[in-house]
Amino acid sequence: MKFSDINFSRFEPAVSALERLRSYFSEKDAGYYIKTFGCQMNVRDSENLAGMLENMGLVRRKSAREADVVLVNTCCVREHAEVKVYGNVGSYCKMKREGKNMLIGVCGCMMQQKHMADEMRRRFPGVDFYMGTNMLHELPEIMLEALESGRRQERIKGPTGPVVEGLPASGRRGPSAFVNIMYGCDNFCSYCVVPLVRGRERSRAPGAILDEIASLADQGCVEITLLGQNVNSYGKGLPDKISFAGLLRQVDRIPGIRRIRFMTSHPKDLSEELMDAMAGCEHVCAHLHLPVQSGSNAVLAAMNRGYTREHYLELVTRLRQKMPQIDLTTDIIVGFPGESDTDYEDTKSLLQQVRYDSAFLFRYSVRRGTAAEKMAETVPEESKTQRLYALIAEQEAITAQRGACHVGKNEEVLVESVSARDPGEVSGRANGSWTVNLRGDKGLIGRIVPVRIIEAKAHTLYGEIVQ
Ligand code: 5AD
Ligand code: SF4
Repeated sequence: MKFSDINFSRFEPAVSALERLRSYFSEKDAGYYIKTFGCQMNVRDSENLAGMLENMGLVRRKSAREADVVLVNTCCVREHAEVKVYGNVGSYCKMKREGKNMLIGVCGCMMQQKHMADEMRRRFPGVDFYMGTNMLHELPEIMLEALESGRRQERIKGPTGPVVEGLPASGRRGPSAFVNIMYGCDNFCSYCVVPLVRGRERSRAPGAILDEIASLADQGCVEITLLGQNVNSYGKGLPDKISFAGLLRQVDRIPGIRRIRFMTSHPKDLSEELMDAMAGCEHVCAHLHLPVQSGSNAVLAAMNRGYTREHYLELVTRLRQKMPQIDLTTDIIVGFPGESDTDYEDTKSLLQQVRYDSAFLFRYSVRRGTAAEKMAETVPEESKTQRLYALIAEQEAITAQRGACHVGKNEEVLVESVSARDPGEVSGRANGSWTVNLRGDKGLIGRIVPVRIIEAKAHTLYGEIVQ
C-alpha cells in the first residue's frame, strides 16, 4: 500500500510529520528493526509500525545492530515476557552507550502499566520515545519530536482509544495474513492484565474488515486469521447489529479467500449460531483454539471465566458432532491461587477427556492491578513447576497420539514458506491446526496441495505430495 492510498484525514499532523521524516531519512539510507513480544495482536501492530516506518523511507533490517531506528513492541501478560523485554531494551541501550547512533522507541502493552513504564524510564535513559497501545498512528509525530528536540518523548494515554483505520502495513510474509476485527477485552478474567492495558472492547466496522480482506485477497493472500481477544463477542456496540457468525459468513464469500481462521474464542460466548456458521462456511478451517484455563469449577469461578467444566465439555461434544474433523487447542494456567491437588487433577482429567491437538500451558504469574493480585498465592513455586511439567508430559503424549492418527491419511496443505533448516523442504499447514513439512521448493508457496502424511514427529507432520 502506498502512503497516498491512506486516509490519514483525521490525523493531519501525523501526515506532515511523515513528510518531514521522509526527507530526513531519505538522505541517510536509513533502516529500522522491530522486536515484537507477545500475541498475534502485537505482531499485527508491528506490521502497522513497519508500514509507517517504510513510508518514512526506512528500510527493514535484520538486526538492531544494522538499524537506525529500533522499536520494541512489548507484552506484559506474564512475568516471563516482561523480564525478556527489559533484557532486550537494555541490550539496545548498551549499543547506544557504546557509540551506536540510533533512535530507540518502546511501545505496546507494558507502557500501559504505570509501574512498568516507571521502571522502564528509570532503568533505560537511552530510550528516545515511549508510546501506548492506542498511539500507533502518532508514530511519525513522536519520532519527529524526539529527533528535533533531542529529548525523550512520551505518548501514553488511557488504553481505550479510537479504532484507527487505514494505517499502512508491511511485514506480512507468505499467503496468510492477520486481520484485526476488534480491540480490547471486557471479560476481566481475574488473572489477566489485558483489559487493563488494551482497554474495553471495540469492534471494527464490518465494511472496513471486509474491504481489508478483499484487498489482501487481491494481493494474493489466500488465508486470513481474524484476530481479537474474544472474537465471539464481535459486534457489541456497533450501530448495525452483527454477530461474529454473521461476519464469518460474509468473509466466507470474499473471492480468493480459501481459508479462514480466527482467535481467540471465549467458551462463554461460543454460541450455537457460531458453531453452525463454522460448520456451514466453506472456507472456515477445522480448528478451534478454545482456552479452558482450568478443569476445576472452583478455579474457573475464581478466575471469573463464566462457565463450568461441564459446560465446556458440552461445547466440545457439540462442536465435534457438527465438525467431526475439528482440531482443538487450548490455553491452561497451573498454580492459580487456591488451586488444590484435586483442582489440578481436574485439569489433568479434562485434558485427557478433550484430547487437544496441542495446548499452551502456563505457570500462573501474578499481574498488578488484576483481581487475582489480591488472592493469596497458595501454590509454592516448585509445585507450580511440577504441575506444569507433569501436564506438559501428559499433553505431549496426547499430541503424539493425535499426530499419529494422521499418518496414512491425505491432507490439504497450504504451503507457507521454505523450511529454515532444509532448503529442499517447505512448510505449511493442514486444514486443521497441524504444521506439515514436505519436500518441495518455493514455487509451491501459496498453493494448497494434496499431501499424504507419512510420519508424525512431535508437533509436526511429514508428508509427500499426492500426484
Ligand atoms: N499468568 C499465567 N498465564 C496467563 N495468561 C494470561 N494471564 C496470565 C497470568 N497472569 C495466559 C492465559 C491466556 C494466555 C494468552 O495467557 O492462558 O489464555
Ligand atoms: Fe484476558 Fe480473559 Fe480477556 Fe482473554 S478473555 S484477554 S484471558 S480477560
